[in-house]
Amino acid sequence: MFDQLKNSTRTNIICIFGHPIEHSMSPIMHNIAFKDLGLDYIYIAIDIAPNNLKQAFDVVRALDIKGANITVPHKKRTLQYVDEISPIARKIGAINTIKNEDGKLIGTNTDASGAKKALKEANIDINEKNVMILGAGGAARALAHSLIEETNNLFIVNRTSNRGKNLARELTKEYHKEVLFKKFKNKIFEEKLPSIDILVNTTTIGMFPDIHISPIPKNYLHDDLTIFDIIYNPLETQLMKDASEKGCRVLGGLDMLIYQGVLSFEWWTNQTPNVELMKKSILDELEVK
Ligand code: ATR
Repeated sequence: MFDQLKNSTRTNIICIFGHPIEHSMSPIMHNIAFKDLGLDYIYIAIDIAPNNLKQAFDVVRALDIKGANITVPHKKRTLQYVDEISPIARKIGAINTIKNEDGKLIGTNTDASGAKKALKEANIDINEKNVMILGAGGAARALAHSLIEETNNLFIVNRTSNRGKNLARELTKEYHKEVLFKKFKNKIFEEKLPSIDILVNTTTIGMFPDIHISPIPKNYLHDDLTIFDIIYNPLETQLMKDASEKGCRVLGGLDMLIYQGVLSFEWWTNQTPNVELMKKSILDELEVK
């Protein structure tokens, strides 16, 4: 990291804005990839409280910060602070990546493409499968907009009814496919999971430090299910452990994290990073080799 700071007096700065932010793995993977390519860039994590988000973008312009990732809980509110929104970010309704082009801030979303690539690499076929998405936040929106292109059978489950209902309604309207919504309850899992092929967890349940909790009681899981848990810390969540024991196919969130990062990196630098190196840097950090 300090090598990077010594690089030059014109080091390009990239940030990640989130709240909280201390557990983000993005600085590790981006800084190692910058260094590997000999790029004079540095990636810095900054904790921005929601009330300071607008000022943060003023600072991006004032300091000529070249780009940023945006993470929880700012992905949606960022839409109002950029100068231009890519079609995919507008469609999803959330921004996870910003690029500063001569003072003009352009926002896009690489989560959906990152998730799609992770699923493809894992040979998980969505085609007309029955898919249940847990959650209705920014990540759920990206996943839903991506997966609905490949299936007519999407089901949203969320704790807060309004958020879930709005997402289901919006998807139904936009894609002319009926997307169902149910409130997050064990009864729903008991009733609906037997007919579900792919379950995607976008909630934060099971994320570090609460690593021993799972959104779904183990007895509702069945061996025809594929589980995609987008959490990457821990690498194997309680849901993934339970699912493996029940004979499910399981994919964690590490590849999605890496691929969304690769797409952001390419957009900022016009260069292709070493994906394996990025992945290894995170695995090392999470102390799993
Ligand atoms: P992100 O942008 O990463 O998706 P988010 O917008 O904070 O993050 O969304 C987190 C999701 O996890 C939400 O769907 C949230 O449910 P609510 O809409 O009801 O807030 C869900 N979530 C978080 N903790 C939860 C819990 N203990 N039980 C059920 N759902 C939970």
